[in-house]
Amino acid sequence: MNAKTPPHKPPFPGPEGQEDMPYLLTPGPLTTSRTVKLAMLADWGSRDVEFRKIVGDIRKRILQVANCDGRYECVIMQGSGTFAIEAALGSLCPDKRRKTLVVANGAYGDRAAQILERIGRPYLKIDKGDSTVPTVEEVVTMLDADKSISHVWMAHCETTSGIVNPIEEIGQAVKLHDKVFMVDAMSSFGALPLHMVGQNIDVMVSSSNKCLEGVPGFSYVVVKRDLLEASAGVCHSIVLDLFEQWRGLETNGQFRFTPPTHALIAFDQALKEHEQQGGVEGRGARYASNAKALVAGMTEMGFSTLLQEGLAGPIIQTFLTPRDPNFHFEQFYEALRLRGFTIYPGKLTKRPSFRIGTIGQIDERVIAAALSAIRDVVGEMGVKDFAPLQS
Ligand SMILES: Cc1ncc(COP(=O)(O)O)c(C=O)c1O
Repeated sequence: MNAKTPPHKPPFPGPEGQEDMPYLLTPGPLTTSRTVKLAMLADWGSRDVEFRKIVGDIRKRILQVANCDGRYECVIMQGSGTFAIEAALGSLCPDKRRKTLVVANGAYGDRAAQILERIGRPYLKIDKGDSTVPTVEEVVTMLDADKSISHVWMAHCETTSGIVNPIEEIGQAVKLHDKVFMVDAMSSFGALPLHMVGQNIDVMVSSSNKCLEGVPGFSYVVVKRDLLEASAGVCHSIVLDLFEQWRGLETNGQFRFTPPTHALIAFDQALKEHEQQGGVEGRGARYASNAKALVAGMTEMGFSTLLQEGLAGPIIQTFLTPRDPNFHFEQFYEALRLRGFTIYPGKLTKRPSFRIGTIGQIDERVIAAALSAIRDVVGEMGVKDFAPLQS
């Protein structure tokens, strides 16, 4: 195997062609369109007027997709989603006397708490395990019990399992208590409706390589301007300082440090395609039909889902590991990859499981081919007992 002889061959070119690489059935990086990839075939100067205009347009369009009014700003950060999360937590969460409530139901909620711990910001956590949604009552009980809570953080889609959290209801309760509501919409933004104003969201974080179908390289924070202004001098880090990053972008349209130029240009193209394909509604509908086809095919084979019906969104599906001694995840994963499908290793959830993403430039045809590959692979492995392994 060398760089010129690709090891994988998908069974057919996808909606936009994935050339000779496997389809990425993961929550990102994901399969992007050919035109998004082609947009990167140029080297842009990050200080040039054309590039700065594109960055300005991207910031405006993100605010539109998030249904913001004039009170919000979009700050782009270099780095993956977690960089924007740490920038938001470190710039906006209180450091003394007041606390942040982290409403967690999976690894990404836990990680937000871990960041707050590391940077010395007081927090409390509601831990719902990894397959249950938090309720408004649970959040309200915490807010009533500890008046020092000033901020509430939660994920929209907790990608650990694919569960979708009730941000609208919880946002309403948080607003009634006059607290700052912060949402990690990393894996949902662009496919699940999100309304910063209507859902009382003060801060939202997402990244380039999820449902807007760009390539990895940057993340962004959508935040109310007054919170941003009040954050001057608060951040524990120079590179993650949201206020300074915003000031840089506002002053001359430039990033303080080298931006991922190719990823930004690809994202500009990805945003155009998002709009052409029906915006949030169109994208959400395609992902929902991918997810429906996948779950139907997998359950027909005998696999069980981790989540109870109705809890999983269209982003990623979690399947419980079969107890058949012939089922070995590593073998399963590799055999699927060689057939042209990269799935997502499990083990993040408490019960043994694996995940298959349904986002990116994939459609029901790709899902049908993936199901047929899965059928072949479990057949070859000799898996017959699909009842879930208990632990
Ligand atoms: C909900 C959520 N939060 C945070 C992250 C972390 O993003 P990244 O891996 O880009 O740092 C992810 C990644 O999938 C995610 O799904």
